[in-house]
Amino acid sequence: MTSSSPSPSLVILTGAGISAESGIDTFRDKDGIWSKIDYRDVATPEGFMRNPARVHDFYNRRRRRMKGIRPNAAHHALARLEAEWKGEFLLVTQNIDDLHESAGSKKLIHMHGELGGALCQACGARRRWPDDMSINSQCPSCEATGFMRPDVVWFGEMPYHMDRIYRALGAAGTFISIGTSGNVYPAADFVVEARHADARTIELNLEPSEGVDVFHQAIHGRATEIVPAFVERLLAQA
Ligand code: APR
Repeated sequence: MTSSSPSPSLVILTGAGISAESGIDTFRDKDGIWSKIDYRDVATPEGFMRNPARVHDFYNRRRRRMKGIRPNAAHHALARLEAEWKGEFLLVTQNIDDLHESAGSKKLIHMHGELGGALCQACGARRRWPDDMSINSQCPSCEATGFMRPDVVWFGEMPYHMDRIYRALGAAGTFISIGTSGNVYPAADFVVEARHADARTIELNLEPSEGVDVFHQAIHGRATEIVPAFVERLLAQA
Protein backbone atom coordinates (compact mmCIF):
# COMPACT_ATOMS: atom_id res chain seq x y z
CA MET A 1 0.00 0.00 0.00
CA THR A 2 1.85 3.14 -1.09
CA SER A 3 0.69 6.37 0.55
CA SER A 4 0.77 8.61 -2.50
CA SER A 5 0.81 12.29 -1.53
CA PRO A 6 -2.60 13.83 -2.29
CA SER A 7 -2.79 15.64 -5.63
CA PRO A 8 -2.14 19.36 -5.05
CA SER A 9 -5.00 21.77 -5.56
CA LEU A 10 -4.88 23.20 -9.07
CA VAL A 11 -5.82 26.78 -9.96
CA ILE A 12 -5.78 27.55 -13.67
CA LEU A 13 -6.12 31.00 -15.28
CA THR A 14 -6.92 31.33 -18.98
CA GLY A 15 -6.91 34.30 -21.34
CA ALA A 16 -7.74 35.04 -24.96
CA GLY A 17 -4.83 32.94 -26.24
CA ILE A 18 -6.62 29.69 -25.38
CA SER A 19 -9.50 30.65 -27.72
CA ALA A 20 -7.30 32.02 -30.53
CA GLU A 21 -7.16 28.71 -32.43
CA SER A 22 -10.96 28.48 -32.23
CA GLY A 23 -11.04 31.64 -34.34
CA ILE A 24 -11.56 34.32 -31.67
CA ASP A 25 -9.22 37.33 -31.95
CA THR A 26 -7.02 38.09 -28.99
CA PHE A 27 -6.73 41.67 -27.72
CA ARG A 28 -3.05 42.66 -27.86
CA ASP A 29 -1.53 40.53 -30.56
CA LYS A 30 -0.77 42.11 -33.92
CA ASP A 31 -4.21 42.79 -35.52
CA GLY A 32 -5.79 42.16 -32.11
CA ILE A 33 -9.14 43.63 -31.07
CA TRP A 34 -7.58 46.69 -29.41
CA SER A 35 -5.60 47.47 -32.56
CA LYS A 36 -8.93 47.99 -34.38
CA ILE A 37 -11.05 49.79 -31.79
CA ASP A 38 -10.24 51.96 -28.78
CA TYR A 39 -11.08 49.99 -25.62
CA ARG A 40 -12.17 53.28 -23.97
CA ASP A 41 -15.07 53.52 -26.42
CA VAL A 42 -16.44 49.99 -25.98
CA ALA A 43 -15.08 48.45 -22.76
CA THR A 44 -15.52 51.18 -20.12
CA PRO A 45 -18.60 52.48 -18.25
CA GLU A 46 -17.78 55.96 -19.61
CA GLY A 47 -17.81 54.65 -23.19
CA PHE A 48 -21.22 53.06 -22.57
CA MET A 49 -22.60 56.30 -21.11
CA ARG A 50 -21.25 58.27 -24.10
CA ASN A 51 -22.55 55.97 -26.84
CA PRO A 52 -24.44 52.84 -25.73
CA ALA A 53 -25.43 51.94 -29.31
CA ARG A 54 -21.74 51.64 -30.30
CA VAL A 55 -21.05 49.40 -27.30
CA HIS A 56 -24.08 47.20 -28.07
CA ASP A 57 -22.88 46.90 -31.68
CA PHE A 58 -19.38 45.84 -30.52
CA TYR A 59 -20.75 43.08 -28.26
CA ASN A 60 -23.52 42.05 -30.69
CA ARG A 61 -20.86 41.32 -33.34
CA ARG A 62 -18.82 39.26 -30.82
CA ARG A 63 -21.96 37.43 -29.56
CA ARG A 64 -22.95 36.51 -33.16
CA ARG A 65 -19.34 35.39 -33.83
CA MET A 66 -19.43 33.19 -30.72
CA LYS A 67 -22.33 31.15 -32.15
CA GLY A 68 -20.14 29.81 -34.96
CA ILE A 69 -17.09 28.73 -32.99
CA ARG A 70 -16.13 25.51 -31.23
CA PRO A 71 -13.81 24.68 -28.34
CA ASN A 72 -10.34 23.49 -29.38
CA ALA A 73 -8.03 20.76 -28.06
CA ALA A 74 -6.78 23.06 -25.27
CA HIS A 75 -10.31 23.63 -23.91
CA HIS A 76 -11.01 19.89 -24.08
CA ALA A 77 -7.72 19.08 -22.33
CA LEU A 78 -8.68 21.34 -19.38
CA ALA A 79 -12.12 19.71 -19.16
CA ARG A 80 -10.40 16.29 -19.07
CA LEU A 81 -7.98 17.51 -16.38
CA GLU A 82 -10.91 18.68 -14.22
CA ALA A 83 -12.68 15.34 -14.64
CA GLU A 84 -9.61 13.21 -13.80
CA TRP A 85 -7.81 15.36 -11.21
CA LYS A 86 -8.00 13.85 -7.70
CA GLY A 87 -7.31 17.12 -5.83
CA GLU A 88 -9.13 20.45 -5.67
CA PHE A 89 -9.55 22.14 -9.07
CA LEU A 90 -10.63 25.64 -10.15
CA LEU A 91 -10.53 27.15 -13.63
CA VAL A 92 -10.66 30.97 -13.72
CA THR A 93 -11.08 32.52 -17.14
CA GLN A 94 -10.72 36.13 -18.25
CA ASN A 95 -12.57 35.18 -21.42
CA ILE A 96 -16.22 36.04 -21.97
CA ASP A 97 -16.76 33.30 -24.58
CA ASP A 98 -18.45 30.00 -23.65
CA LEU A 99 -15.81 27.62 -25.02
CA HIS A 100 -14.75 26.20 -21.64
CA GLU A 101 -18.39 25.27 -20.86
CA SER A 102 -18.86 23.84 -24.36
CA ALA A 103 -15.80 21.63 -23.78
CA GLY A 104 -17.31 20.35 -20.50
CA SER A 105 -15.58 22.47 -17.83
CA LYS A 106 -17.78 22.89 -14.75
CA LYS A 107 -15.57 24.21 -11.91
CA LEU A 108 -15.28 27.49 -13.78
CA ILE A 109 -15.35 31.20 -12.89
CA HIS A 110 -15.77 33.93 -15.52
CA MET A 111 -14.01 36.77 -13.70
CA HIS A 112 -14.74 39.21 -16.57
CA GLY A 113 -18.35 38.07 -17.01
CA GLU A 114 -19.96 36.37 -20.01
CA LEU A 115 -20.90 37.57 -23.49
CA GLY A 116 -24.05 35.42 -23.26
CA GLY A 117 -25.25 37.23 -20.14
CA ALA A 118 -27.17 40.50 -19.63
CA LEU A 119 -27.36 42.79 -16.61
CA CYS A 120 -30.20 45.25 -15.98
CA GLN A 121 -28.78 48.50 -14.57
CA ALA A 122 -32.24 49.40 -13.25
CA CYS A 123 -32.99 46.35 -11.09
CA GLY A 124 -29.71 44.37 -11.10
CA ALA A 125 -31.31 41.25 -12.63
CA ARG A 126 -28.97 38.95 -14.61
CA ARG A 127 -30.30 36.84 -17.47
CA ARG A 128 -28.97 34.68 -20.31
CA TRP A 129 -29.01 36.86 -23.45
CA PRO A 130 -28.10 34.86 -26.61
CA ASP A 131 -29.23 37.46 -29.16
CA ASP A 132 -28.54 41.10 -30.03
CA MET A 133 -29.05 43.76 -27.37
CA SER A 134 -29.88 47.40 -28.00
CA ILE A 135 -30.76 50.61 -26.21
CA ASN A 136 -34.41 49.54 -26.59
CA SER A 137 -33.96 46.09 -24.99
CA GLN A 138 -36.42 45.49 -22.17
CA CYS A 139 -35.50 43.89 -18.86
CA PRO A 140 -37.45 40.60 -18.50
CA SER A 141 -37.61 41.16 -14.74
CA CYS A 142 -38.53 44.82 -14.17
CA GLU A 143 -39.64 45.55 -17.76
CA ALA A 144 -37.61 48.78 -17.84
CA THR A 145 -36.15 49.60 -21.26
CA GLY A 146 -32.83 51.31 -21.98
CA PHE A 147 -31.03 49.86 -18.96
CA MET A 148 -29.73 46.55 -20.33
CA ARG A 149 -25.95 46.04 -20.71
CA PRO A 150 -23.80 43.00 -21.50
CA ASP A 151 -22.90 41.25 -18.22
CA VAL A 152 -19.17 41.74 -18.81
CA VAL A 153 -16.62 43.51 -16.59
CA TRP A 154 -15.26 46.71 -18.15
CA PHE A 155 -11.98 48.47 -17.43
CA GLY A 156 -12.29 50.27 -14.10
CA GLU A 157 -14.88 47.79 -12.78
CA MET A 158 -14.25 45.08 -10.17
CA PRO A 159 -13.96 41.57 -11.65
CA TYR A 160 -16.43 38.98 -10.35
CA HIS A 161 -15.89 36.35 -7.60
CA MET A 162 -12.56 37.78 -6.42
CA ASP A 163 -12.98 36.49 -2.84
CA ARG A 164 -13.42 32.93 -4.10
CA ILE A 165 -10.48 33.30 -6.48
CA TYR A 166 -8.10 34.63 -3.82
CA ARG A 167 -9.16 31.87 -1.41
CA ALA A 168 -8.34 29.27 -4.06
CA LEU A 169 -4.99 30.93 -4.86
CA GLY A 170 -4.13 30.97 -1.13
CA ALA A 171 -4.61 27.20 -1.00
CA ALA A 172 -3.14 26.36 -4.42
CA GLY A 173 -0.46 23.73 -4.80
CA THR A 174 -0.01 24.49 -8.48
CA PHE A 175 -1.00 27.61 -10.45
CA ILE A 176 -1.08 27.40 -14.23
CA SER A 177 -1.55 30.46 -16.48
CA ILE A 178 -2.59 29.78 -20.08
CA GLY A 179 -2.93 32.16 -23.06
CA THR A 180 -2.74 35.51 -21.30
CA SER A 181 -0.33 38.39 -21.86
CA GLY A 182 -0.26 39.35 -18.16
CA ASN A 183 -1.15 42.94 -19.01
CA VAL A 184 -4.40 43.29 -17.07
CA TYR A 185 -4.84 43.34 -13.29
CA PRO A 186 -5.87 41.78 -10.97
CA ALA A 187 -5.45 38.59 -13.09
CA ALA A 188 -1.81 39.46 -13.83
CA ASP A 189 -1.11 39.34 -10.09
CA PHE A 190 -2.52 35.86 -9.51
CA VAL A 191 0.92 34.30 -10.01
CA VAL A 192 2.28 36.46 -7.15
CA GLU A 193 -0.61 35.41 -4.89
CA ALA A 194 0.06 31.76 -5.76
CA ARG A 195 3.77 32.10 -5.00
CA HIS A 196 2.91 33.58 -1.59
CA ALA A 197 1.11 30.29 -0.98
CA ASP A 198 4.27 28.40 -2.03
CA ALA A 199 2.47 27.07 -5.10
CA ARG A 200 4.37 25.83 -8.11
CA THR A 201 3.69 28.34 -10.92
CA ILE A 202 3.74 27.51 -14.61
CA GLU A 203 3.04 29.65 -17.70
CA LEU A 204 1.79 28.13 -20.94
CA ASN A 205 1.63 30.76 -23.70
CA LEU A 206 2.53 31.35 -27.35
CA GLU A 207 5.31 33.70 -26.25
CA PRO A 208 6.72 34.98 -22.93
CA SER A 209 4.08 37.08 -21.11
CA GLU A 210 4.77 40.31 -19.21
CA GLY A 211 5.09 38.29 -16.01
CA VAL A 212 7.06 35.32 -17.35
CA ASP A 213 10.00 35.89 -14.96
CA VAL A 214 7.72 35.43 -11.93
CA PHE A 215 6.81 31.88 -12.94
CA HIS A 216 8.90 28.85 -11.87
CA GLN A 217 8.44 27.32 -15.32
CA ALA A 218 7.32 28.51 -18.78
CA ILE A 219 6.30 26.42 -21.78
CA HIS A 220 5.81 28.36 -25.03
CA GLY A 221 3.90 27.23 -28.09
CA ARG A 222 0.37 27.02 -29.49
CA ALA A 223 -2.24 26.15 -26.88
CA THR A 224 -3.70 23.28 -28.92
CA GLU A 225 -0.27 21.61 -28.83
CA ILE A 226 1.24 22.49 -25.45
CA VAL A 227 -1.89 22.26 -23.27
CA PRO A 228 -2.95 18.69 -24.14
CA ALA A 229 0.68 17.51 -23.79
CA PHE A 230 0.99 19.31 -20.44
CA VAL A 231 -2.28 17.79 -19.14
CA GLU A 232 -1.13 14.32 -20.25
CA ARG A 233 2.12 14.71 -18.26
CA LEU A 234 0.35 16.15 -15.21
CA LEU A 235 -2.12 13.26 -15.07
CA ALA A 236 0.63 10.69 -15.65
CA GLN A 237 2.59 12.08 -12.67
CA ALA A 238 -0.48 12.27 -10.37
N1 APR B 1 -1.72 29.67 -28.10
C1 APR B 1 -1.28 30.14 -26.90
N2 APR B 1 -1.18 31.46 -26.61
C2 APR B 1 -1.58 32.32 -27.58
C3 APR B 1 -2.05 31.91 -28.84
C4 APR B 1 -2.12 30.51 -29.09
N3 APR B 1 -2.56 30.01 -30.27
N4 APR B 1 -2.34 33.01 -29.58
C5 APR B 1 -2.05 34.08 -28.80
N5 APR B 1 -1.58 33.67 -27.60
C6 APR B 1 -1.15 34.50 -26.46
C7 APR B 1 -0.47 35.78 -26.87
O1 APR B 1 0.94 35.58 -27.00
C8 APR B 1 -0.80 36.70 -25.69
O2 APR B 1 0.22 36.65 -24.70
O3 APR B 1 -2.31 34.87 -25.76
C9 APR B 1 -2.08 36.11 -25.09
C10 APR B 1 -3.30 36.99 -25.31
O4 APR B 1 -3.09 38.19 -24.62
P1 APR B 1 -4.19 39.35 -24.71
O5 APR B 1 -4.59 39.56 -26.11
O6 APR B 1 -3.66 40.51 -23.92
O7 APR B 1 -5.46 38.72 -23.96
P2 APR B 1 -5.68 38.54 -22.40
O8 APR B 1 -4.36 38.39 -21.70
O9 APR B 1 -6.67 37.48 -22.22
O10 APR B 1 -6.33 39.96 -21.97
C11 APR B 1 -6.80 40.07 -20.65
O11 APR B 1 -7.72 42.24 -21.19
O12 APR B 1 -8.81 43.45 -22.77
C12 APR B 1 -8.97 42.83 -21.56
O13 APR B 1 -10.94 41.93 -20.67
C13 APR B 1 -9.99 41.73 -21.67
O14 APR B 1 -9.95 39.54 -20.65
C14 APR B 1 -9.19 40.47 -21.41
C15 APR B 1 -8.00 40.97 -20.62
